[in-house]
Amino acid sequence: MIDGKKILFSGMQATGNLTLGNYLGALKNWVTLCDEYECFYSVVDLHSITVRQDPAELRKRARSLLTLYIAAGLDPEKNCIYYQSHVSGHSELSWILNCYTYMGELNRMTQFKDKAAKHADNINAGLFTYPVLMAADILLYQTDVVPVGKDQLQHLEITRDIAQRFNAIYGDVFAIPEPYIGKTGASIKSLQAPEKKMSKSDENPNASIYLMDDPDTVMRKFKRAVTDLEAQVRYNPEQAGIYNLINIYSACTGKTPEEIEREFDGKGYGDFKAAVGEAVVSVLRPLQERYTDLCQNKDYINSVIKNNAEKANYYAMKTLRKVQKKIGFPERIR
Ligand code: TRP
Repeated sequence: MIDGKKILFSGMQATGNLTLGNYLGALKNWVTLCDEYECFYSVVDLHSITVRQDPAELRKRARSLLTLYIAAGLDPEKNCIYYQSHVSGHSELSWILNCYTYMGELNRMTQFKDKAAKHADNINAGLFTYPVLMAADILLYQTDVVPVGKDQLQHLEITRDIAQRFNAIYGDVFAIPEPYIGKTGASIKSLQAPEKKMSKSDENPNASIYLMDDPDTVMRKFKRAVTDLEAQVRYNPEQAGIYNLINIYSACTGKTPEEIEREFDGKGYGDFKAAVGEAVVSVLRPLQERYTDLCQNKDYINSVIKNNAEKANYYAMKTLRKVQKKIGFPERIR
């Protein structure tokens, strides 16, 4: 608890471009969470180096992601948005937790298997212990809830196991985190293969709307979106493409699926797609304008980076010192 509020932590990698799916499905809904939770959103650059990165590119993307979070409405006075590498406690706790995690547990992680297959030329130890660093991220802040997608649930599960194991030996050191189950956003699918999630790493650029896409690009991608031959704007899961477009339109306008069906009753897919495109453009425009303004305001972003790292470091150190003491590391002489 911080100031009577439960603690929420989430981390995101600065790889690839954020999509409309990330925004409507997650980010947009995070904006109000700070009323109920003390929120930490870390740009997890330590995780990023488990695959080879170009240094200049990594630096640029990390800053861009941090800026985008603010542009999307996360107020950095109320949310702690910071770089993982600026808080050394993540690395320190991660080492310690490595010694309380079993090889067998890590061997079962499906993401490790996937990533090892994808990066067969660089299966490094960091890729293997990635979940331990993630556990450190979460446990360092005495986190109560973690908003994660399905793909990260297994990592949250191992985090809980490590925390419980540690607590069983040393007493109540860590809070045991739960997945965040609250109002979540719409699940936005690919525009080209609507049975798949819209992904920032999709190889087909037409499958995803990126938050920085200009209006022409947005309109063109919706025009090309995969639909069906029913020729009816119906909120029917079997019409996966149209169903997804209705969800997008609904998330952007606040209209219900029923209202949308009525609005486009008797109209063609061409009209509907154009309307969806325009609705998305009007959501992205203010976000892009704020992003551009923020990018010009270097001093402001730098002050956010500095102040929030200090804040994160304060809470991280509290937990880390407790852990070190419990383990039996010698006391610091001051
Ligand atoms: N592994 C997460 C992902 O790729 C990112 C992440 C790192 C994270 N640390 C975290 C998410 C802690 C939630 C909590 O999406």
